[in-house]
Amino acid sequence: MAPRDQLGRPLHDLRVSVIETCNFRCPYCMPADSTPPGDTLGRAGRLDFDEIETAVRAFARLGVSKLRLTGGEPLLRKDLPVLVARLAKVPGITDLALTTNGALLAGQARALREAGLHRLTVSLDALDAALFRQLTGGRGELADVLYGIAAAEAAGFGSLKINCVVQRGINESQVLPLAGHFRHTPHVLRFIEFMDVGTCNRWQEASVVCSRELRDQINATWPLQPLQAAYRGEVARRHAYADGAGEVGFVSSVSAPFCGDCHRARLSADGQLFTCLFAGQGRPLREIIAAGEDTLTAHLRDAWQARADRYSEQRTSGPGSGRRIEMYFIGG
Ligand code: GTP
Ligand code: 5AD
Ligand code: SF4
Ligand code: SF4
Repeated sequence: MAPRDQLGRPLHDLRVSVIETCNFRCPYCMPADSTPPGDTLGRAGRLDFDEIETAVRAFARLGVSKLRLTGGEPLLRKDLPVLVARLAKVPGITDLALTTNGALLAGQARALREAGLHRLTVSLDALDAALFRQLTGGRGELADVLYGIAAAEAAGFGSLKINCVVQRGINESQVLPLAGHFRHTPHVLRFIEFMDVGTCNRWQEASVVCSRELRDQINATWPLQPLQAAYRGEVARRHAYADGAGEVGFVSSVSAPFCGDCHRARLSADGQLFTCLFAGQGRPLREIIAAGEDTLTAHLRDAWQARADRYSEQRTSGPGSGRRIEMYFIGG
């Protein structure tokens, strides 16, 4: 029987962070002045491919069919296509996706596709090269990401998702240029409200640009029509351009939280289970993974049944207090 948590929510999605570091230092996620300069876990500190596969098999037995690989930046993980090929074969996993910043995508898109990766999401917060560099902590080149997107198209990925986190006074100027850039393409751009995840991104409510405001802004230039969610619990609200130029989405986790339909578990690169993006701490699973798939499945069932997280619905204004996992560690 598929487990339900304390709020009746089943377990559908698993997001596995394959590495805790990143080649960018976006100030809203991994600011260079308050996060480690390089690896923190090192090779031995990360789950190896056998451990990840065992974990995914156990989650799949509990009802997970959707798997997303994240980081930090997952393309920094050595031999990632080898892992993808193994996970694509796990019984029950019908959707295998990956979120990347795109910097290394041009060199890896084909191998990932051939390994069996179904879908790609690329983060892209600006189309202005100088602003893009600034938003990545001085480390990102816009052209690399655009080449990466082109390489993913050439490799046969079809429709990509493009994620843009909007911050007031920082990259609002990029909203219409980004929308214009991805109209008339198969790709789906999604604007994401800046969230108070982690403890180091200096989040303040005044920096959040609500989805409603963005939707109105785009709608005034290119009229939009709401679309049905593609599946229950979809985090992005979908809209079609009325002129047939494609689709755009809005993720409103601050202004319209979606915890009621949150079916996601997260596994960090060092093997901890997190049942909420805003959790203070995870459950270490490495020893339980070593005990094998059956033991792990039973443990995960108990953990999921005990879950009652709904942080975004309980959030009060102002930055939260206390310990919280960092976004770059858990991968969004
Ligand atoms: P699809 O399977 O393609 O629909 O992916 P998705 O939209 O569920 O995943 P993605 O990682 O692209 O999510 C987009 C953004 O939504 C993330 O970068 C987060 O900012 C936010 N988000 C995703 N999942 C959660 C969640 O469980 N809680 C909260 N608060 N925000 C989330
Ligand atoms: N709020 C919203 N989204 C965030 N991401 C990282 N930090 C935040 C935040 N504070 C997003 C990235 C990327 C994904 C991994 O998570 O932009 O698309
Ligand atoms: Fe930026 Fe993504 Fe890296 Fe965070 S994980 S620093 S959002 S590129
Ligand atoms: Fe799920 Fe936690 Fe996000 Fe709510 S805040 S949607 S419970 S991850």
